[in-house]
Amino acid sequence: MSKENTNTPAASNSSSTWAYAPAPEDTKHIRLQKQYGLFINGAFVKPNSKKYFATSSPSTEEKIAEVAEANEKDVDAAVKAARNAYNKTWKKMPAKERAKYIFRIARLMQERARELAVIESIDGGKPIRESRDIDVPLAANHFFYYAGWADKLQYAFPGKNPQPLGVAAQIIPWNFPLLMAAWKIAPALAAGNTVVLKPAETSPLTALKLAEIIQDSGLPPGVVNIITGFGKTGAAMVQHPDVNKIAFTGSTDVGKIIQKTIAGSNKKITLELGGKAANIVFEDVPIDQAVEGIVNGIFFNQGHVCCAGSRLFVQEGIADELIRKLKDRMNTLIVGNPLDKNTDIGAINSKEQLDKISSYIKIGVNEGAEIFQSACVLPKKGYFCKPTLFLHTSQSHRIVQEEIFGPVLAVQTFRTIEEVIEKANNIPYGLSAGVWTDKGSKIFNMTSKLRAGVVWANTYNKFDPSSPFGGYKESGFGREGGLHGLMPYLQ
Ligand code: NAI
Ligand code: MG
Repeated sequence: MSKENTNTPAASNSSSTWAYAPAPEDTKHIRLQKQYGLFINGAFVKPNSKKYFATSSPSTEEKIAEVAEANEKDVDAAVKAARNAYNKTWKKMPAKERAKYIFRIARLMQERARELAVIESIDGGKPIRESRDIDVPLAANHFFYYAGWADKLQYAFPGKNPQPLGVAAQIIPWNFPLLMAAWKIAPALAAGNTVVLKPAETSPLTALKLAEIIQDSGLPPGVVNIITGFGKTGAAMVQHPDVNKIAFTGSTDVGKIIQKTIAGSNKKITLELGGKAANIVFEDVPIDQAVEGIVNGIFFNQGHVCCAGSRLFVQEGIADELIRKLKDRMNTLIVGNPLDKNTDIGAINSKEQLDKISSYIKIGVNEGAEIFQSACVLPKKGYFCKPTLFLHTSQSHRIVQEEIFGPVLAVQTFRTIEEVIEKANNIPYGLSAGVWTDKGSKIFNMTSKLRAGVVWANTYNKFDPSSPFGGYKESGFGREGGLHGLMPYLQ
């Protein structure tokens, strides 16, 4: 990649206390092809469709590469390769041999961590600090973690004689492209399944890089197939009769379509869908620490996080002080070039998503909530959004009920524990929540009453391969991560 991101550097943030000199990450070391085929049966092949589409950088709006659009025949070829590999190699291979390949993938990811991080930030728009320090290391850790389980399944599920399911079709979104690929592929392989994975259309490049790594690892051809395309490609994967398992992360709407499609078949399914998490702050909390947690909860990764703390509940006694401090902190956030190491908030992943977020900001204003946006100056090119706060919101507001998937926080105040629990639970989603308090007993009380798959206490957005993640209600079902994450891939 020769082109450097020339957007307004992070230093342009006029309102920050200090102006930082630009500190862009080097891009010369990354290797990208102009055009990518489909990774089927261990090789990059031309699509039967003969069609390609462009993936571009949301921070510069410039085209980065072309990727293939898989049609039904391509999907069929990938599923056939996966089935063949399952029957002829992977199923028969001793588990400890399978583990070696998974370890090798993890190590190769670590070796190429810098390249993966830069490509993730260019293709998806997230700040390099996050892709470098969170996405890529966590992705490699998932492979390490599940490699360790591959030959210990009998001990993990004693007396159950765990067996793989067969071919898994995995469809992932654009908010954590490499990490979601790791979350899906690593447990599937450890459990002895083979895989056809499709990354999202706006951020396919790190999954294709992972395909190169998988090639380098010597994994038998067909065990992992990575194909690109739009929703139609995903639908063809779901409909394919020879798929045993579907794992999907994405919108609730598509999750529902998938459920309908497979009803009556014996395909197994895990869905990880939307969220609208409550981040609840009690008066006994150290306020500055809570402010950091709130900022991390909603502005991390541009709010493109299904478990984002997008609803803030503040106990009345500290509301004024906390909101004042939160606004001050928001004004110091640096929005801009994802490749700059000082950037806090990068680019919104696509124009489509930016339009969706902007329309919700208008809805919030029309609903009568009080808006506050940080004073930062946005780059002229690319898809960027100011960190946004809505005060005096109520339960009936659409910005409180619906998933925005952007850096937009809706604030409500509360008086009692009962009141906040009721409000927090009163939405169609139940993925995650946060509780901030000095009192341990309050934490335990809250965690048992909040209808959320994950509850963070005095922290937010913390992930580890060993802890399971997943939701209640419209947030989906099935768990990823930890021992629980193996179950959906085993009989
Ligand atoms: P989406 O659900 O359309 O896309 C997710 C993945 O599913 C992509 O790989 C896409 O190509 C594929 N897909 C689309 N239609 C499909 C179908 N009919 N059958 C099978 N696969 C299909 O999500 P989109 O449109 O990118 O985002 C819309 C909203 O969804 C966001 O604004 C956000 O609110 C939510 N979302 C939630 C995510 C989460 O992590 N829970 C991730 C991405 C989006
Ligand atoms: Mg869509």
